[in-house]
Amino acid sequence: MGVTILAIESSCDDTSAAVVKDGYVLANLIAGQDVHMSFGGVVPELASRAHQANIVPVTDLVIKKAGISVSEISAVAFTRGPGLLGSLLVGTSFAKGFALARNIPLIDVNHLHAHVLSHFILEQGKESRIPGFPFLCLLVSGGHTRIIILKNHLEMEVAGNTIDDAAGEAFDKCGKLMGFAYPAGPAIDRLAATGNRHTFRFARPNVKGLDFSFSGLKTSFLYFLRDKLAGDPDFIEKNKPDLCASIQHTIISILVSKLIKASSLTGIKEVGIAGGVSANSGLRRELVLEGKKRGWNFFIPPLEYTTDNAAMIGITGYYKYLRKEFSGQDVAPLARL
Ligand code: KG4
Ligand code: ZN
Repeated sequence: MGVTILAIESSCDDTSAAVVKDGYVLANLIAGQDVHMSFGGVVPELASRAHQANIVPVTDLVIKKAGISVSEISAVAFTRGPGLLGSLLVGTSFAKGFALARNIPLIDVNHLHAHVLSHFILEQGKESRIPGFPFLCLLVSGGHTRIIILKNHLEMEVAGNTIDDAAGEAFDKCGKLMGFAYPAGPAIDRLAATGNRHTFRFARPNVKGLDFSFSGLKTSFLYFLRDKLAGDPDFIEKNKPDLCASIQHTIISILVSKLIKASSLTGIKEVGIAGGVSANSGLRRELVLEGKKRGWNFFIPPLEYTTDNAAMIGITGYYKYLRKEFSGQDVAPLARL
């Protein structure tokens, strides 16, 4: 009969549900939240209210879209953390209620682990390339910037981490300074394609080992804009594509140089990227080139599995199901893991 996982993701501002059967995603739906756009960032209280409104219809629809009946569901997997506590609570409570009502196992999933396992999602009718182990993965999102070594499906080690802001935050905060709505990453990516990345130069931080730092870049961008605007109030409008291309190039260079360092220090050539920022076209292009030069077997997740989605929770839940790693009804969400 196979293993069918219903997966729920509600760690930040997207309510997502998916059905994953034997490692194949049958359906994956994401309800975004436009309510945060004008605030320049996610407002936690608004996020949890929107999750409450969305979670039942999204789950109902994904089960219909997957073409399964509720009785076929073997277990419910949900994001336990890290994330916004109020948002996590909605998904956790819903998953608990569903598992209890159906008398099926409950599986808690670490959101970061799931981003890395997005490379293992299978899709019917599509040929899948799957990384071998150990797998070196740069996880770059709005909340995290880490270099992770996945030893097998369920064991991972963090080799590098940001000491302050995440790369996605750098995109979003610099974007906000230029007047973009939240999240600014995709808009910067689009505009950067028409700009010159060498027009403006920004200092790169000098951080030890495989760790990252992005808060200095944001501050130097702020001072740079303040000085330029003092001389010309239209500076940003006149230079937007070049500003986007230059700031994106700086962020990408920091990420790429650390991933290259991680691969040469560990000798691992199964390399990939995951998380929202891995949707960035410049980062993808740069790493494909570097990967070819260095003989990497390089992996980029399909665009729909880069930002937060429940399919990645479902695939992680599937591997945990195979090892019978279930959680009890007393499991609580964790903002930090
Ligand atoms: O993984 P994700 O959906 O949520 C977190 O777990 O944080 O990542 C969201 C982040 C945001 O900071 C957004 O600006 C960034 O991913 N992002 C991008 C692009 N698409 C999304 N950053 C740069 N270029 C993109 N194309
Ligand atoms: Zn995420």
